[in-house]
Amino acid sequence: MVNIRSAVTPLVSQSQSSGQNDAGVTSTQHNALDSQQKDSVVPLSVDQTVFFKTWLKRPMRTGAVVPSGNALARLITSDIVPNGGPVIELGPGTGAFTRSILAKGLPEDKLTLVENSPDFTALLRQRFPKAQLLEMDVTRMRMWDEPWNNMQAQAVISGLPLLTMGLRAQWNVVGACMQSLRAGAAMYQFTYMTRCPIEPTILSRLGLKAERIGSAMFNLPPASVYRISKR
Ligand SMILES: C[S@@+](CC[C@H](N)C(=O)[O-])C[C@H]1O[C@@H](n2cnc3c(N)ncnc32)[C@H](O)[C@@H]1O
Repeated sequence: MVNIRSAVTPLVSQSQSSGQNDAGVTSTQHNALDSQQKDSVVPLSVDQTVFFKTWLKRPMRTGAVVPSGNALARLITSDIVPNGGPVIELGPGTGAFTRSILAKGLPEDKLTLVENSPDFTALLRQRFPKAQLLEMDVTRMRMWDEPWNNMQAQAVISGLPLLTMGLRAQWNVVGACMQSLRAGAAMYQFTYMTRCPIEPTILSRLGLKAERIGSAMFNLPPASVYRISKR
């Protein structure tokens, strides 16, 4: 666990090296106050810290300030079965959905993770060494390319901020995802908005339908999951 207070403490100490701070509190009084406050600090987990730092560097691409919660992870992975074939996860971040996919019993070597943030890929490689990790920009996915045209996946789980990606990128990503699925399988996309983030023209031109399968109201922020499949 990382304590966010440790990051600000050196700044506070500098201003108090004279023994009395601007508010007229002595060092002894400050120490007593400090130990009381330490007990009330809410610590950040490693995942929350890495996620927040990545969001500071790339806010649009990271798309959220903190990783998804357990309820959303359980919802978006609810159709996965242990022996149903490979699973592709797009934008795994620190692995909130990845852990839930593996908890469903899927063997780790049946999982393909696609992520392009270096902070996240380093963590994912360490945590899920048997999964295939593709360090690439998803907007370069093409439906006629390997491995997408040859995967027979049981599901694509997407944590991508698709809404901010634009039409062409959505077309490339959703087209390649559909190509990678076996018959009857689906792509699962979460969103903080009240509609599916995939543009209706793309759904229509690819012959797809989007159904909301549920919401995680206590996620931060609340989110819904859509199942995208052939009509
Ligand atoms: C909203 S976060 C979701 C992270 C994780 N699935 C979760 O729910 O906590 C979006 C993720 O998509 C990744 N991402 C965004 N744009 C991407 C791109 N063009 N190619 C690959 N990954 C991308 C980000 O790095 C980040 O990991």
